[in-house]
Amino acid sequence: MAGRNTIVAVDLGSSEIKALVCGFDEDNARITVRGYHKGESLYIDEKGRITDVNSLALSLGTVIHEACNIAGVSSPCVVCGLPITDINQYHSTGPISIPPEKGAPGQVKREHIRQAIETAQNIRYPGDHEIIDILVEDYIIDNSKRVQNPLDMPGSRLDVNLLICSAPSSSIMVVRKCIEKAGFFCEDIFLNPIAAGTVAVSSYAREKGCVHIDMGASLTTFSVYQKGSIIYMGSVPEGGKFVTSDLLAAYRVPSSYNTLSAVDMLKKRYNKLKIDKANEEIVLQSVSGQAEASLTREQFVTVMVDRLDEIFEEVDNDIKKNRLLEEVDEVILSGGTARFAGITELCRKRFGKPVSVATPWVTGDDMMAEINVPEFVTAYGLANYYYLGDERSKAFRSYENEGGTLRNVIRDIFGKFKRG
Ligand SMILES: Nc1ncnc2c1ncn2[C@@H]1O[C@H](COP(=O)(O)OP(=O)(O)OP(=O)(O)O)[C@@H](O)[C@H]1O
Ligand SMILES: [Mg+2]
Repeated sequence: MAGRNTIVAVDLGSSEIKALVCGFDEDNARITVRGYHKGESLYIDEKGRITDVNSLALSLGTVIHEACNIAGVSSPCVVCGLPITDINQYHSTGPISIPPEKGAPGQVKREHIRQAIETAQNIRYPGDHEIIDILVEDYIIDNSKRVQNPLDMPGSRLDVNLLICSAPSSSIMVVRKCIEKAGFFCEDIFLNPIAAGTVAVSSYAREKGCVHIDMGASLTTFSVYQKGSIIYMGSVPEGGKFVTSDLLAAYRVPSSYNTLSAVDMLKKRYNKLKIDKANEEIVLQSVSGQAEASLTREQFVTVMVDRLDEIFEEVDNDIKKNRLLEEVDEVILSGGTARFAGITELCRKRFGKPVSVATPWVTGDDMMAEINVPEFVTAYGLANYYYLGDERSKAFRSYENEGGTLRNVIRDIFGKFKRG
């Protein structure tokens, strides 16, 4: 297992930086949240890319320090998330044969699993990328039997199907640099949707097949799960900020920091997607407090619904294009934009599947109510993914108890990828 030290999980979102100080309670095998803080995100663009390392490091430092003060912790390590905008995904297969033993069918040994994974990881990826995660989609024995862990199973052939993700080395480096400039040690960097999924998506939903959609401010990211594993991730470059700017356009008011903030507040206050008082006026006040413009509730709701439905439609189209919808049994939402009242009904209309909204489900005192909201799923997921340690990827689960740390095994395997 990775060290169960105190860590700060940092979600560098395009609207907010969120920091969660977490520890691990060994007795109850549960993550404990000791403090949190969030701050406005000014130096991250709509694709989740950092635009000013030094300025971001300053604001990041403030957010992490504040969270640490609340938690009464000093100099913790940081784990941080990366959006999937610039990543490459590779599906790769590693078949190997298992020799018979004394005339009887052979048995899968750790060495066979290692060989299959090594064969599957024989891919080429761009020279300016690094492998950031490897997920096992399937182990298959004798071309037919799908198993979770093939260790000690009888058979003559083992196949492993991997989903390998590479990310630009520069994106990874710049995140690391920001954290170091902020005065902290960067322990690890994970992909946001993979980490968030460990919190938002139950094992049941993974096994049955589902899509997890994280609806942020500028980005909507989705992961399709089938037979227990992520098989595809995608993103739509739209989110809650687009709802806000559509509303601003409907008010016909010039766009500025003040008008956008005022409309964003109205959006959160009147976030019901159902038109119950169609003619009620929703007034946008100017900074001086005077009425500036108004929309009827009907107009207001229509603008929000149109944009949100467009986002769902784009996700739906991408999933359909990749022929993945048939096996998807439910939809799980997270992210701040999943806070709209009535979002599950709207999403259900588009996908025709049951929809739920995930939160971190942290138990504890009053502070927990503030982080048990859909926009904290990614930060909590990053902490959870970190504490999963060796269990993080099923690819490496089978190496348990083999001696030596799994991190070294992972590093070995990652090191063997070819850059092409
Ligand atoms: N109560 C609410 N009702 C509707 N929208 C909300 C509510 N609370 C927050 N939002 C919206 O959620 C968005 C922020 O969500 P989140 O914190 O998940 O984004 P982020 O992680 O910063 O951005 P991204 O993931 O796109 O980089 C904003 O657009 C905000 O207006
Ligand atoms: Mg986000």
